[in-house]
Amino acid sequence: MNEKRSSFSGSIGFVLAAAGSAVGLGNLWRFPYLAAQYGGGIFILVYIILALTFGFALMTTEIAIGRKTGLSCIGAYKALNKRFSFLGYIAWSVPIIILPYYSVIGGWVCKYIAVYLTGQGAAAADGGAFFGAFMSSTAAPLGWFLLFLALTAVVVIAGVEKGVEKVSKVMMPVLVVLIVGISVYVLTIPGTMEGLKYYLLPDFSKFSITTVCAAMSQLFYSMSLAMGIMVTYGSYTRKDVSLVNAVNQIEIFDTGVALLAGLMIIPALFAFQGEEGLTSAGVGLMFQTLPAVFGQMPGGSVVGLVFFVLVFFAALTSSISLMETIVSMLMDRTKLGRKMSCLVVFIVCIVLGVPSSLGFGVWGHILPLGMDFLTFFDFISNSVVMPIVALITCILVGWFVGTKAICDEVSRNGEHFGRKALYEVMVKYLAPVCLVVILVFSVLQGMGIIKV
Ligand code: TRP
Repeated sequence: MNEKRSSFSGSIGFVLAAAGSAVGLGNLWRFPYLAAQYGGGIFILVYIILALTFGFALMTTEIAIGRKTGLSCIGAYKALNKRFSFLGYIAWSVPIIILPYYSVIGGWVCKYIAVYLTGQGAAAADGGAFFGAFMSSTAAPLGWFLLFLALTAVVVIAGVEKGVEKVSKVMMPVLVVLIVGISVYVLTIPGTMEGLKYYLLPDFSKFSITTVCAAMSQLFYSMSLAMGIMVTYGSYTRKDVSLVNAVNQIEIFDTGVALLAGLMIIPALFAFQGEEGLTSAGVGLMFQTLPAVFGQMPGGSVVGLVFFVLVFFAALTSSISLMETIVSMLMDRTKLGRKMSCLVVFIVCIVLGVPSSLGFGVWGHILPLGMDFLTFFDFISNSVVMPIVALITCILVGWFVGTKAICDEVSRNGEHFGRKALYEVMVKYLAPVCLVVILVFSVLQGMGIIKV
């Protein structure tokens, strides 16, 4: 790989780009329904603890590896240790599994833009039936999925992702402000205070190992960890950027947006549907609860439209970055040009995405591991492959390369690495042991041997 590496203009540029990749449907769509399912406050507590330990260690490692080697994931792992080049390939498989079903959800977002544009907002505000009918039909969700995927492919082929990124850099802060506004509004709806308590106060009786598994997989997903992405971002980072600060800022930003998204959705869910709504929350949560909130708001149909357009941009920047990762690797490894690579990826994504789209309707009877297709792909990438990548990364760094190499990279400008001791213990001992436990439990749970 000898193409010239462009680099970010400085710390702010790097943090914004990495945060832009991290913030997406993971924060807005996935975090709230998991938090609802896994006990609210206790899930959040576990998530934050994991972010400060695991997330911190893994993100520091990946970014430092990238900056040290100046290579993206396959090359970087190989440069550290020849025998670990296979790790790059496993990491690369994660975006391939994620992108198809990410586009299915992206399609749902497009559908809701259309819903608000055509003045159907009131019909969608029924708390679930509208969405259920849409999701279980055949042609409509497929069409929206293909549209979203095609948009992603067009941007990647045309190489205009910089343009989209510029737009979304402006829109991201607007999205955050809107989420704060919606959250505040939600808390004025009668009955939401109980939900707020559920969301913020940990109930330790709801704790179980599956809470930890779910929080961990969410952490990897949301921060784009354990798939080589942060290695690539690290390779674009200038040597004088403070990695400690950058990691902290990315984590705070990503977690902050997720917490706000939950705040906007969970208390409202509680007010509308009570306890029962929480336990039955699933992949449709964002599309069921929010339209109901907008339905009660003065000017709600405009707010709904603006909201889904902003979510669309957050999702599109993520899907572009996912596709770009797959395509650039394909171009490096084969003789295919950019257009052909995009076409191949597009077709593979259709093949893998169609089952996820139909899994709530006509293919609803096909249940791999007892899950619908979308949940199945989500499970394989986040609960199986990502913990494996994280585990092997820790073994590579902790036992082959040595944590010293990473710590030296972090403090190459004489910067003080405050959590160095925590970092070393995490990477060498704690993380590998926990990851093995989590992997075993996830797989047992996936196979239906233990129940949530
Ligand atoms: N972290 C992104 C989100 O929260 C999703 C994601 C996973 C992603 N892997 C990625 C985004 C790779 C860009 C690149 O939605």
